[in-house]
Amino acid sequence: MTDALGRTRGVLVLGGTSEIGLAIARALVGRGARHVWLAGRDEAAMHAAAEALRPAEVHTRPFDALDPASHSPAIDAAFAAGGVDVVVLAFAVLDDQRTYEANPASGAAAASTNFTGGVSAGLHAAQALAAQGHGTLVVLSSVAASRPRRSNYVYGAAKAGLDFFARGLAEALRGTGARVLVVRPGFVRTRMTAGLRPLPFATTPEAVADDVVGALDRGASVAWSPSLVRWVAFALRVMPAALLRRLDRRR
Ligand SMILES: NC(=O)c1ccc[n+]([C@@H]2O[C@H](COP(=O)([O-])OP(=O)(O)OC[C@H]3O[C@@H](n4cnc5c(N)ncnc54)[C@H](OP(=O)(O)O)[C@@H]3O)[C@@H](O)[C@H]2O)c1
Repeated sequence: MTDALGRTRGVLVLGGTSEIGLAIARALVGRGARHVWLAGRDEAAMHAAAEALRPAEVHTRPFDALDPASHSPAIDAAFAAGGVDVVVLAFAVLDDQRTYEANPASGAAAASTNFTGGVSAGLHAAQALAAQGHGTLVVLSSVAASRPRRSNYVYGAAKAGLDFFARGLAEALRGTGARVLVVRPGFVRTRMTAGLRPLPFATTPEAVADDVVGALDRGASVAWSPSLVRWVAFALRVMPAALLRRLDRRR
């Protein structure tokens, strides 16, 4: 719950080993958060991450985006334990587009994780936030959702769906006291992008976390990170298809 000064006291990270999710949790702990719930598949890695979240009390919960039955228990346990002001929907997978094309089942599994998992977990989290009457669901979308590209259209399609879903959910939550913040990072240097050629304005999980905290403070509904990638997304949307293809081929 938030304290008398409106500061975050509790944070739940769905995708509890995400580098960006953990950076957001650390930034909120730096601002006074006292409880962090990490929900994910890798118990050992979540325990290892707890050290960097001190002095907050860290709790872990099993959560698998591909197993909707795990969503409600993980989310409800965190809320039952005393209130969560910020839920970060941080899980996703990103594989090579050609891998998805060679093995359609792997593309479908990625879409299920990144979109269907987000819908299920997002709806559960929204219900819990609305029931307590305050708090923000932070949904990690992506600049990749701006326009389909040959190099990453399976990932981009799922992110576009998630972004659309999150904005609709924000409308549904109006009047409940709960909110949604859609975050659209550009290229962030994490294990997800290891080995990929960085895009212009490549950034770090810590910088994204700062942008998220700033957006939470402002009560914003959308945040680009860094803010300049809003114009990259605009350029991607309006650029002639032939130019987009040429740029995309260089990736
Ligand atoms: N890095 C970027 O450039 C970038 C840019 C824009 C948006 N984003 C988005 O930001 C978010 C965080 O990404 P990141 O860079 O922090 O990547 P990351 O460190 O690779 O984190 C991804 C997280 O997703 C979890 N995950 C994957 N499949 C899961 C499943 N079935 N169930 C539960 N958890 C699952 C991973 O858990 P395990 O440890 O169990 O694998 C990991 O915690 C993602 O939504 C990503 O799409 C990233």
